[in-house]
Amino acid sequence: MYNSKITGLGYYVPDHVVTNDDLSKVMDTTDEWIQERTGIKERRHVNDPSETTTSMGVKAAKIAIERAGLDKSDIDFIIFATLSPDYYFPGPGVLVQRDLEMDTVGALDVRNQCSGFVYGVSVADQYVKSGMYKNILVIGSEVHSRGLDMTTRGRAVSVIFGDGAGAAVISREEDASKGILSSHLHSEGRHAEELTVIAPGMGKRWVTDILRDEDPNDESYFPYMNGQFVFKNAVVRFSEVIMEGLQKNKLSPEDIALLIPHQANLRISQFVQKKFGLADDQVYNNIVSYGNTTAASIPIALTEAWEKGKVKEGDVVVLAAFGSGFTWGSVIIRW
Ligand code: UT7
Repeated sequence: MYNSKITGLGYYVPDHVVTNDDLSKVMDTTDEWIQERTGIKERRHVNDPSETTTSMGVKAAKIAIERAGLDKSDIDFIIFATLSPDYYFPGPGVLVQRDLEMDTVGALDVRNQCSGFVYGVSVADQYVKSGMYKNILVIGSEVHSRGLDMTTRGRAVSVIFGDGAGAAVISREEDASKGILSSHLHSEGRHAEELTVIAPGMGKRWVTDILRDEDPNDESYFPYMNGQFVFKNAVVRFSEVIMEGLQKNKLSPEDIALLIPHQANLRISQFVQKKFGLADDQVYNNIVSYGNTTAASIPIALTEAWEKGKVKEGDVVVLAAFGSGFTWGSVIIRW
């Protein structure tokens, strides 16, 4: 058995900033409502038609690989988490292999929405610990803006989400006291429809059904979220899965140097912070600038925190996520 460690981090967000005031010009919303309920001031939306979930992921990945001190030829495996893939199939993992001109390494796509990066890191951790692979690239990337209902009808969802990408390289670590200590994954599929995009899917509505019906009131291809229900579950599951990770490693909340919660809603992060009695500098949030970037939110936040010198050797760093599925999880790291 080896240990595994995050050796490189990178992120990329599109240049185009969309403020709350910008949104209030296209739908019935206000800066005040959005900030009060979510903490978000602005988010990024792609405005270059050639930019995709994969192309942003590739940009983040290049930075992460370089910072790991590696070459793309050193990467043994790719894991790509997204809910907004370039194509219905194949997933973006193989597009990264192509666009980075890598060897024919394996590429795995993760469909766990907001928990996608945590699930991806957990899978990478197991492969590296078992000795199967030495360096794994884990990417979380999303283009939400092209799939949102940017009218008043969709405002409860559309104001929250933003575009962006983050990446990490997970590498073999010989020192058993350092690196990823454990990961903890959960799901509860009975709530699958509480946060979902139903179409296009083979279950209820395929593309041909949408085209046939030409129904201007069809909302099946826009995200649906039962906001308050999701919120209530999120605060409970975040807390549980962080505690599960701490207990597994005989740690307590005071041991957390930095908690990186999935950036779902600033109010959720604040609830969790309060519950664990954490100080402001023990929790990193950037939802104010990027909104909720789903699978990309943790790697973007972790990279930013690392760039600002907030992650130091020996620190206990906790990643935690909750989202559609429902799925949730945590990763406990000794940096
Ligand atoms: O990352 C995946 C996990 N996602 C989450 O964790 C998100 C969890 N949920 C939330 O963050 C919150 O539920 C929201 C921020 C999405 C919504 O906040 P809320 O306090 O639950 O609002 P609500 O949906 O109960 O709506 C309250 C009111 C409604 O009006 P009425 O019925 O009281 O007249 C909505 O129509 O706010 C209205 N509303 C808006 N008003 C202005 C909903 N969206 C907007 C908007 N601007 N964008």
